[in-house]
Amino acid sequence: MTQDFKIGPLNHVGVAVPNIQEAMDTYRTLYGATDITEPFDMPAQGVKVCFVNLPNSQIELIEPLNEDSPIHNFIQKNPRGGQHHVCFEVEDINVAVAEMNARGATVLGEPRIGAHGTMIVFVHPKNSNGVLVELMETPKDGHH
Ligand code: CO
Repeated sequence: MTQDFKIGPLNHVGVAVPNIQEAMDTYRTLYGATDITEPFDMPAQGVKVCFVNLPNSQIELIEPLNEDSPIHNFIQKNPRGGQHHVCFEVEDINVAVAEMNARGATVLGEPRIGAHGTMIVFVHPKNSNGVLVELMETPKDGHH
């Protein structure tokens, strides 16, 4: 059963930014994006987040809340921001974690609530050509 595990749709691309308001302005004025959600804080994750909604996906803008933020170092190394992760949907986060581990991947930490309100977990970039991968349980209401 679990050997059938596979990733689902690309849910979003995470972009770390030094200033979320300026990044939102860029998506509005440079790219004409009209559907951008209000930023909200996720203190447990150490980030401020908003979503640029696109017809087929989202850009997740992430600003560090403080120097303890997991993306603080990323912004130190990339002061103008940069692509931080890609997120694929999975049906069941626990099946995903078990199968990723069985396939030899390095899963980072325990599943936790992500910015979309469903369970997420990250897979080490060394397993995916340098790309940090987020696995996210598909929202049950089907809303992405
Ligand atoms: Co994300």
